[in-house]
Amino acid sequence: MVSPTSQDVAKKAGVSVATVSRVLNDSPLVSPQVRERVLSAVKELNYQPNRTAQRLRAGRSHVIGLIISDIQNPFFTSVVRGIEDVAYKYSYSVVLCNSDEDVEKEQLYIGVLSSERVAGVIIVPTGNDCCSPLLNLQMPVVMMDRVVPGLSTDFVVLDNVAGAYAAIQHLLELGHRRIGMVSAPPGISVGTERQRGYENAMHDYGIAVDAMLIQPGNFKENGGYQAASKLLELKPRPTAIFAANNLMTMGAYQAISDKGLRIPDDISVIGFDDMPWFGLVHPPLTAVRQPTYEIGAQAAELLFARLLDSTTPIQRKILQPELIVRSSTAAPARLV
Ligand code: RIB
Repeated sequence: MVSPTSQDVAKKAGVSVATVSRVLNDSPLVSPQVRERVLSAVKELNYQPNRTAQRLRAGRSHVIGLIISDIQNPFFTSVVRGIEDVAYKYSYSVVLCNSDEDVEKEQLYIGVLSSERVAGVIIVPTGNDCCSPLLNLQMPVVMMDRVVPGLSTDFVVLDNVAGAYAAIQHLLELGHRRIGMVSAPPGISVGTERQRGYENAMHDYGIAVDAMLIQPGNFKENGGYQAASKLLELKPRPTAIFAANNLMTMGAYQAISDKGLRIPDDISVIGFDDMPWFGLVHPPLTAVRQPTYEIGAQAAELLFARLLDSTTPIQRKILQPELIVRSSTAAPARLV
């Protein structure tokens, strides 16, 4: 008598072999009705699973991969916490990888996660050259925080255009007209979108954008310092600076201080990615807040929804920013 296989159980229960595997691995990603059908089939056929073969055949472990772009940036702390809370709820672990905003390192980790046979991957793309190898792996992929044009995956991002627009509108309403921007590195969706928000606001207030007022940074503190220093050398000097992420905002603060200028008396500053300490620096910093925990939690929920049913329609979540006004912004001093 040939021993029944998982294929026989799947056929009798009217499900896929992968679903049989999930039931036998006590995955929480199976509905009670399907679990009951599979267990009945197992009993009727007297199926004895080969645990090792079953795990290999299933090909996926109770582990998901996460690739973030800068493990040193505190922006990602609560994002990762949101992901880990959801993964733990589904009895999954998280393998955390840091691409360092480097596409080659990102590709390396995509290979590592593939060979580790993780169940799926959440990724913060390093840029527009990212991710196609990931999509060739035939595993669920969710893009988070940033998107790659042309790649059709689930994603969770912020409405970056709206966030930047609100920041610049706040300055324009205070009376600023020469507003400098410390922009993100090129080829990253959040950078392109935040610059678009800056340009849209200036346009809506009838102000032509002076290209010299947009100085590119590198998403790090030193890049923010260098870009802000260039803005401070312009004649006439801008009366306000908008920095496109948390670390560059701190760099701009330092550059303004080293120049002997006072915030906001001599120049206003507004940042992106409100951080817990932005209310503690002097003067407390006006910034655009992202719902970081929610970004992570919703990205993880999308991944598990796709693990449960690979035919789920593509989900595109765009979360809303919040402008936190503190005292680093004020009406402009006299123009110089
Ligand atoms: O450096 C952190 C930045 O990169 C944040 O603005 C976040 O949106 C990510 O894209």
